[in-house]
Amino acid sequence: MEIIKEVTLMQARSKAAKAEGQKVVFVPTMGFLHDGHRELIKTGRKAAGKDGLLVLSIFVNPAQFGPKEDLSTYPRDMDRDLKMAGEEGVDAVFTPGVDDVYPRGFETFVEVTELQKHLCGERRPGHFRGVATVVLKLFNMVMPDSAVFGKKDYQQLKIIERMARDLNLGVDIIGVDTVRESDGLAMSSRNAYLSEPERRAARSIPGSLKAASDGVATGVRQARDLIEIMKKIIEKEPVAVIEYIRVCDKESLEDLDTIEDEALVALAVSIGRARLIDNRIVSIRLRA
Ligand code: PAJ
Repeated sequence: MEIIKEVTLMQARSKAAKAEGQKVVFVPTMGFLHDGHRELIKTGRKAAGKDGLLVLSIFVNPAQFGPKEDLSTYPRDMDRDLKMAGEEGVDAVFTPGVDDVYPRGFETFVEVTELQKHLCGERRPGHFRGVATVVLKLFNMVMPDSAVFGKKDYQQLKIIERMARDLNLGVDIIGVDTVRESDGLAMSSRNAYLSEPERRAARSIPGSLKAASDGVATGVRQARDLIEIMKKIIEKEPVAVIEYIRVCDKESLEDLDTIEDEALVALAVSIGRARLIDNRIVSIRLRA
């Protein structure tokens, strides 16, 4: 497995692969890899085929953290990450430095103006501008045919899909289902912040989504009723602070009053130092 730090070397490596007729598949991450990332890598390996070039990037992107957020304490463990990448058949790990990605005088950003306003965008101004900008830059550095993202960050996935379409990036975006712990909690690098009692309280997040799905399956149709059901479950945990619970259109992310077919139920909850997000598609066609 190659470890590539320099942007020009990364571009040269991808160009060489393409010249050989190999497919280039890309999995962008901020590191501290867990089994959710592992699933993305496995999907990437399949998409690249035996002969393709599978690139994993590890870059903690300052532009997507707010001034009061956890950039300086974001968990890191390069040795463990490289071990997982090796196990899963990654061909090249790309680890650019902050100064290479954001050289002095950097002033160009990309925004997906409507999709970035909803859900997490309301309380994290600038977050999705930082995500879209770094992903576009990483695409230009890695030059992939396809790139793999998780549905756990549903709004992020939709924003990247829209950017790829709107800007004719020619990158096929592959979405991967959320990987969960055995009790349902979505895997996240930020779960490392949770103490044991906080970790137990965090079960209420997938629990509330299951209740929403069951509610819809048994006839609940009003968004506000679903939100109430979910609130009650999470509010049983005194350490859990709800930032938002939304029922929205799964493409536009705009709030829905009534569920007529399918809907995205998404929430953000802070528990201790960890801000956790999760989501689930609910459908009137599914049985509880
Ligand atoms: P990071 O949080 O490291 O996540 C990297 C990728 O892993 C994202 O596509 C995310 O959706 C996916 N992922 C995380 N947890 C998952 C889970 N439990 N199941 C399935 N997929 C999961 O998301 C980012 O980094 C950054 O914003 C990035 C796109 C790299 C831009 O900086």
